[in-house]
Amino acid sequence: MSTTLTKTSVDTAVLTDSYGRAITDLRVSITDRCNYKCVYCRTGNEGAQFPELPIADYLRMVRVFVGLGIDKVRLTGGEPLLRTGLTDLIRELATLRTPAGDSLDIAITTNGHLLEDYAVKLKTAGLRRVTVSMDAVEPATFARITRVPDSFDRVLRGIRAAKQAGFGPIKVNCVLLRGFNDDQIVPFAHFAREENVIVRFIEFMPLEEDRIWSPETVVPVDELLDKLAQVRPLVRLEPNTASETALRYTFDDGIGEIGIIAPVSRAFCGQCSRIRLTSDGKIRTCLFSQFDHDLHGVMRRGGSDDDLTDYILSTVAKKEARHHIGEAGFLKPSRSMVHIGG
Ligand code: 5AD
Repeated sequence: MSTTLTKTSVDTAVLTDSYGRAITDLRVSITDRCNYKCVYCRTGNEGAQFPELPIADYLRMVRVFVGLGIDKVRLTGGEPLLRTGLTDLIRELATLRTPAGDSLDIAITTNGHLLEDYAVKLKTAGLRRVTVSMDAVEPATFARITRVPDSFDRVLRGIRAAKQAGFGPIKVNCVLLRGFNDDQIVPFAHFAREENVIVRFIEFMPLEEDRIWSPETVVPVDELLDKLAQVRPLVRLEPNTASETALRYTFDDGIGEIGIIAPVSRAFCGQCSRIRLTSDGKIRTCLFSQFDHDLHGVMRRGGSDDDLTDYILSTVAKKEARHHIGEAGFLKPSRSMVHIGG
């Protein structure tokens, strides 16, 4: 028989893995389609796609996770704004409550291409936070990385529309790639200050289809800090939460916020609070897992919510201690980023 959590234990339980980490943050990919072909993510080819599930199926799985204490849900892809039914999903997610009675912190990561049209609708549906992936503030560099011409202005308009719609502060993620956008660090610092967005520089991880990653393509944190300090002296900010992945900085005049996310050189696996659900309904316990766990399969076979709960508990128990990037014998994960979800 399945081990059902008793009401009392659900009320007090937080999903905890075998290393004692509280798992509170679920990332759900709702499509692996994308309208960009970023060099650090996808191949230039269309490539095989994993199936998408009905919105109701994502909702049911998320509901079970929330029953176990997940309180933050980030919708990703692929590009989530390409997914029909996105606003309905957000509206439904906004009605869910954690066992402690709290509503969910609902966030999205988007490339911003369609954001101008969606910003108000997303806000009305109950979305709380928006992160935009944007890897250059110079249009030609932007086009070279995304391999899409003429999208830069749209993304800029998308960011501004999101601010206008009342999302704030917007986070802008920039994956730094040696030889592509390492000249964008100072311009991005100015962008953060002028547009009042939080710019987060992310170290390139070996998750791309094109296999261009090598240690030399990663821009070291010290170099990044040196370049930022050319703008103005940096001042370190306290982490917002215990599981914060970013080193946070502002400048000595307090204008502009910069985050540095360095999963390779300053790994934060010890504080990891995340778990991921792929667009085809599989749980991934780490971006670098070699396996995924077919939660949707349990549903398809007619599993009850208790069966889903048991499956989630036994999967979380298998969450890896850490990734092994840069070590001898490192194996690239079995799926690339576009098929996992950020
Ligand atoms: N390395 C680092 N970051 C990546 N992202 C996508 N692929 C990679 C990679 N190989 C980023 C996206 C997005 C976030 C979810 O992950 O730019 O902002």
